[in-house]
Amino acid sequence: MSAIPQPVVVKLTRAAIFLVLTLKPEPQHRDTVRALCGDLAGILRAVGFRDAEGRLSCVMGFGSDAWERLFGQPRPRDLHPFREIQGQHHAVSTPGDILFHIRAARMDLCFELATQIMSRLGDAVATADEVHGFNYFDDRDLIGFVDGTENPVDQAALDAAIIGDEDATFTGGSYVIVQKYLHDLPSWNALPVEQQEKIIGRTKLADIELDDATKPTYAHNALTTIEENGEQLDIVRDNMPFGNVGKGEFGTYFIGYARSPSRIEQMLINMFVGRPPGNYDRLLDHSKAVTGTLFFVPSATFLEDLAS
Ligand code: HEM
Repeated sequence: MSAIPQPVVVKLTRAAIFLVLTLKPEPQHRDTVRALCGDLAGILRAVGFRDAEGRLSCVMGFGSDAWERLFGQPRPRDLHPFREIQGQHHAVSTPGDILFHIRAARMDLCFELATQIMSRLGDAVATADEVHGFNYFDDRDLIGFVDGTENPVDQAALDAAIIGDEDATFTGGSYVIVQKYLHDLPSWNALPVEQQEKIIGRTKLADIELDDATKPTYAHNALTTIEENGEQLDIVRDNMPFGNVGKGEFGTYFIGYARSPSRIEQMLINMFVGRPPGNYDRLLDHSKAVTGTLFFVPSATFLEDLAS
């Protein structure tokens, strides 16, 4: 029987928690994490059962070094640390050994699951970053545009995100890149809406794609549309707004899943360096990437097998 993927492809939810952890160096912590991997499905069932309509889900991923320490050989074919990009803007690479991407219709479910997971991990890990994302009006990000429209759905989403025969040992797995962006909202909001629409490549209110005559080649949705042998290469995104009003922090947590990290990396190069170089994503003039990490998401079957 082929491996069952983790819930990478799910319908967009109203709440999410993104937990990026580092694994402490002492050898005993390795066993704590491996034990949790095997028990995660059971913990998820226990919390999720408290509200059947809450659609609680959790994806667990591992950074390149952590994979080496936790599981050794064999290794997922394309797993490596996130490569920083120094272009017109800087895509930083920041620490992260373990990712939990927790999604639900209600924040209390996400919060409870995150609490249960952290109490199991105890002092085996330190938290590098924790972001609580919320749904903002009609699936908009805090720059006011609807985010997620052109995401692939159903079988197309599975084809984009889930590894098939190309890495037979890791069929059912996926790669995920996360980046935490902070927006300069005063400078963004000072732009005329027509200019914002050119930067994104869609209209703001109605969320309609600009026609080719109007859409600049630097539009965000132009630079993130990539092809190989005449075929479009998709990724599965589930960005979430987050923020802290008192601190003046207004952000988008970018999360993108793909069956190969190279397609997400190509999009990032187009955004940060430009296509051609110099023709970069103007969204970055108003948004700063403050984290960047790549993880491998093994299949659910792989995690459950660790229980035995
Ligand atoms: C500040 C961070 C970001 C914001 C606010 C943002 C926002 C948006 C918005 C509003 C759209 C148009 C609606 C849609 O189709 O979803 C979009 C499309 C898209 N974005 Fe982003 N995005 C961000 C970062 C990224 C990054 C880092 C990547 C990839 C590495 C990416 C990949 C894409 C893709 C593939 C599309 C769809 C293009 C298409 O086929 O039309 N985005 N994004």
